[in-house]
Amino acid sequence: MTELFTPSWIEQWFHSIQTSDAYKKEAKDWNQSVLLKFHPVPTILLQHNALGFFLDLRYGECHELRYATESDLDTADIILEASEADWRQLLEHGGDPLFFIMKKRIRLIRGGLVYLSTQRKAASALLATATVSGTADEARSAAPSLSDLWSAVKSTVASGSSANSTASQNSNGARTVSHQPESRTGFVTTGRGLDRQSVPMALFQKSKTLGIWNPAEIDLKKDRDQWEDFSKEEKGLLHHLSAMFMAGEEAVTLDLLPLIRTVAAEGRIEEEIYLTSFLWEEAKHTEFFDLYMKEVMGSPQNLESYHGPMYRILFYEKLPNALNALWTDSSPAAQLKASATYNMIVEGTLAETGYEAYFNMLEERNLLPGLREGITYLKRDESRHIAFALHFLGRLLAEHPSLTGYLEEELGILLGDATNIVHEIFDRYGDEVPFGLDREWFLNYAVKQFQNRIQKLGLG
Ligand SMILES: [Fe+2]
Ligand SMILES: [Fe+2]
Repeated sequence: MTELFTPSWIEQWFHSIQTSDAYKKEAKDWNQSVLLKFHPVPTILLQHNALGFFLDLRYGECHELRYATESDLDTADIILEASEADWRQLLEHGGDPLFFIMKKRIRLIRGGLVYLSTQRKAASALLATATVSGTADEARSAAPSLSDLWSAVKSTVASGSSANSTASQNSNGARTVSHQPESRTGFVTTGRGLDRQSVPMALFQKSKTLGIWNPAEIDLKKDRDQWEDFSKEEKGLLHHLSAMFMAGEEAVTLDLLPLIRTVAAEGRIEEEIYLTSFLWEEAKHTEFFDLYMKEVMGSPQNLESYHGPMYRILFYEKLPNALNALWTDSSPAAQLKASATYNMIVEGTLAETGYEAYFNMLEERNLLPGLREGITYLKRDESRHIAFALHFLGRLLAEHPSLTGYLEEELGILLGDATNIVHEIFDRYGDEVPFGLDREWFLNYAVKQFQNRIQKLGLG
């Protein structure tokens, strides 16, 4: 195999891009030059007076691929900077550069996150061509399946659990695990006692004070008056965002139960106690938006028309699938996937970004005080939900470190779903989005939140 980063490797990569049908298809709209910058610059590049690689990419074609020099720093449309180890990983094994940016392993020195996130498949296809021997495809096909991972960790599944787990093979050959309601050997409260220092119990204490608010008691009079003065476009945007929040809150209310049942079956009483308040809060969020839509926004007939195809992939399919899978498979991998989908992406990336943008947009204009009051309480509730998720995912990763790669892979895919939804929201509007909502702000805030979370989990 040709040694990476040598002149003959560059030649092979160039040829591979030019002959890749996958790249031609995915990159048909790409029209930017890219500098892949190394920091620090490794010896193999210093020998060629290079600081990385320069690619001139135009509509599925590569016009030029060569060592990059200082002068390219002034002209390249996009500059991405990473260490030699990270470029080696991406160029040898392929991958999703946007996810590397999220993990702060690639720095976006120049270029827009919006452009890169819309061209995400093109970037992955480009990197796949770098492995002229097809290593990327081999690496992907060699990746362990969920059932392999389950097998690898099943010996530890039941450790620390007070309930017995039973594993079986169903007619499709897929592993299933279920926790049978068997007789118990004792109780936590009459034994060691509740762990009041634990994260879930600390969060439960907060829920009992900060989580007490009543949607029905929020004064909506000013909101009703102001609503009448909005333009048709402004009302449309408020209906649009609210229709997404309403269904999102209903979805997380409907879908949490399998996770509560899973921790209960494992005898994790502190986690179950906290999750009772979590579910109650989601129910209240659902009630709040339903009430606000009826009382202020007039309940138009066609609210579901605001749920585009990308929104439907996550909220109509992936979220219920990931959570309801726990009824028949409550393995650690299935729990990680459920929490990654529900907490990290739906709550932690999309809802948090959406609520922040919604709140700021209204506060800057001193609009809809009742809606802002509700969102203030709701954001406070959501911050506890995320804190629980970090505890929950952190615990699972500490117990099953072999699943770290699996979680990262799932998060990478889900992050793509989330950014697709952001683009879908803005694609309905031209350059002028009512209330000055800004796509770049949305994506940057979502990225920042996501980066914080994966850093706290020790990923990346
Ligand atoms: Fe919520
Ligand atoms: Fe939540």
